[in-house]
Amino acid sequence: MPAQTESASHGVNLEMNISALLSEAKAAHREGRLEQAERGYRSILDAQDDHADALHLLGLVAYQRGQGKRAVTLIEKAIAAAPNNADFHFNLGKVHKLQGHPDLAIPCYERAHRLAPKNPGTLLNLGNCWRLRGDMRRAERCYRMALTLDNNHLASLNNMGTLCRGEGRLEEAESFYRRALQVEETSPAVWENLAKTLTDMGRLADAATAYRRTLKLDSSRETATHMLAAIEGRTTETAPEAYVRQLFDDYAARFEAHLVGDLGYSIPTLMRSWLDTEIPGERERLERALDLGCGTGLAGAALRAKVGWLQGVDLSAKMLAEARQKAVYDELTEADAATFLVASPAAAWDLIIAADVLIYIGAVDRLMPEIGRCLKPGGRFLLSVEEQEGEDGFTLRPSGRYAHSEAYIRAQAAKAGLSVSLCRPVPLRKNGPDTLKGLLIALTRD
Ligand SMILES: C[S@@+](CC[C@H](N)C(=O)[O-])C[C@H]1O[C@@H](n2cnc3c(N)ncnc32)[C@H](O)[C@@H]1O
Repeated sequence: MPAQTESASHGVNLEMNISALLSEAKAAHREGRLEQAERGYRSILDAQDDHADALHLLGLVAYQRGQGKRAVTLIEKAIAAAPNNADFHFNLGKVHKLQGHPDLAIPCYERAHRLAPKNPGTLLNLGNCWRLRGDMRRAERCYRMALTLDNNHLASLNNMGTLCRGEGRLEEAESFYRRALQVEETSPAVWENLAKTLTDMGRLADAATAYRRTLKLDSSRETATHMLAAIEGRTTETAPEAYVRQLFDDYAARFEAHLVGDLGYSIPTLMRSWLDTEIPGERERLERALDLGCGTGLAGAALRAKVGWLQGVDLSAKMLAEARQKAVYDELTEADAATFLVASPAAAWDLIIAADVLIYIGAVDRLMPEIGRCLKPGGRFLLSVEEQEGEDGFTLRPSGRYAHSEAYIRAQAAKAGLSVSLCRPVPLRKNGPDTLKGLLIALTRD
């Protein structure tokens, strides 16, 4: 047989083998048998090291195994071998985005969109990246383009609702969520988003109905459980951790501009001025201070010059990330306040503060004794609460936040070996046309 024909038939055989190997590996991949899929893709690459599909799919396996960097390298190689495959650019964008790099994902999605302009999913993902980058105009343009391609594109309808809600365009948000529910009536996430929007609008009866629908579809949703209790006037012990995390992860980027800039919140600086001027014996520097529910670090910034070692604790990773950027804490820990204290040595802190945090912790019967145990004798606990007038303990308000009575805090403090050094009514922040009334309290360890 002439040599040329032999090599041509070898080529055909190789191609057939590769095609069979690829189908087999893809089937294993689809069924979640990652090891087998990987082995298949590798044998293809042993025979042809620039096989674009095998490189791309091996990249996806790497990502599924938590190897983000390797996934990027492999998909980039796939793109070098086949630069015009829109899926490769799309998935490279997806890996970058899931790795927390929307800025790297954007050009990938843009290329994918240029190569396959009829795919609403690409525009949705591009919009999500712009939203993460805080460019709401570009995000909105992408979602609207996706909806021009597919009027019923569920995720684009939902995300347009969320974008509008974030900007206070509540009627528009409601209308996008309702359109999404016409497409998919059984989506608990969309029902919950609609419920939150109706709560923002003050339409509490409608919001309760939407939260009930949410919970009927998915009873494990803690935000819906908490908010339904709040709207129905049922006081629970504490806000669920998942609710707090979700609320503040979503809020972190605009927290300070909104709370301080728009609503005039100033408890952290008031605490600092109490320490400087009002509390006897606190004019000196303190050795060790603990900021419970430290959020973005407003109190840390106010206290930094006053303390030697400053520890922050919060449930929300995104609030902590903002706090980290301020570089005012010696240490930041993602944890529940009471759980952190349980693990802290006794008599470890000169000062503990909780600024605007007990509004998410109703019953303090776990927290307060731990504060008493962890403060040095003579140490202080500074806290603010939304004020509930009267003798009752505490109430979960329709806002989803708790209010505490002065009598309740005094009684719980006394049980924990803490006495009240100062307790004054303070304006917490604006609340619509009114001012939200609170109490600022300084307790001292006996
Ligand atoms: C209204 S922000 C106040 C933040 C900060 N203390 C300030 O004054 O700017 C409430 C913070 O408390 C956190 N938080 C609520 N419940 C918590 C808990 N049980 N343990 C730890 N952090 C909590 C939230 O994640 C959020 O960052």
